Amino acid sequence: MGETKRGALIIFEGLDRSGKSTQYLRSKGRTVEFIPFPDRSTPIGKLIDMYLRREIDMSEEALHLLFCANRRERVDFIQECISTGIDVVCDRYAYSGVAYSLAKGLPADWVRAGDVGMPQPDVVLFFEVSPEVACQRGGFGEERLETGELQRKVRETMKLLRKPFWQMVNADGDVQTVEGEVRAIVDHLDLHLPLQLLDQI
Ligand code: TMP
Ligand code: MG
Repeated sequence: MGETKRGALIIFEGLDRSGKSTQYLRSKGRTVEFIPFPDRSTPIGKLIDMYLRREIDMSEEALHLLFCANRRERVDFIQECISTGIDVVCDRYAYSGVAYSLAKGLPADWVRAGDVGMPQPDVVLFFEVSPEVACQRGGFGEERLETGELQRKVRETMKLLRKPFWQMVNADGDVQTVEGEVRAIVDHLDLHLPLQLLDQI
């Protein structure tokens, strides 16, 4: 009795331009921290940002490791929030890391090992939008990795990563409809067990 419930770790996943970042939580007076991955504000995130904007080059392997390291940079913050009852919403997470690198053909075991031990999400909301619709949204193609061909492969690869704690959200609807779907899922999370760590991705 009187114990503060821990915060929830909620992940938004989906293709580029699926509209994930316009979704957010404002429910029941709970405090929410929002972290986009890549987090371009950190030292490692700045390197990733330069790569994506075509300012620097690097190998696919180095890039994969930087994406993983960028998530590790925020683990202490995530755990601190969760343990003090603050919800954390991440726009992308290890699943983007794995799906994009597998779609590029990097070795599966090596790719999947990079995020073992990261905090396990309470729920992954996968925003489904067809690649054709995503390609037509504003800004598509400005950054590296935003090509129709890679997006199609990522979409297929993401499906293989599906876990019981994934929920599909139809992102073709208007913002209110999608937000309603998100809230219904988030309001029913069971936060009695402590936060777990990923033992596989
Ligand atoms: P963003 O558009 O959500 O800022 O993500 C930038 C790009 O980085 C996007 O094309 C997806 C890609 N990405 C990876 O390839 N691996 C990762 O681990 C993450 C988080 C993103
Ligand atoms: Mg993008």
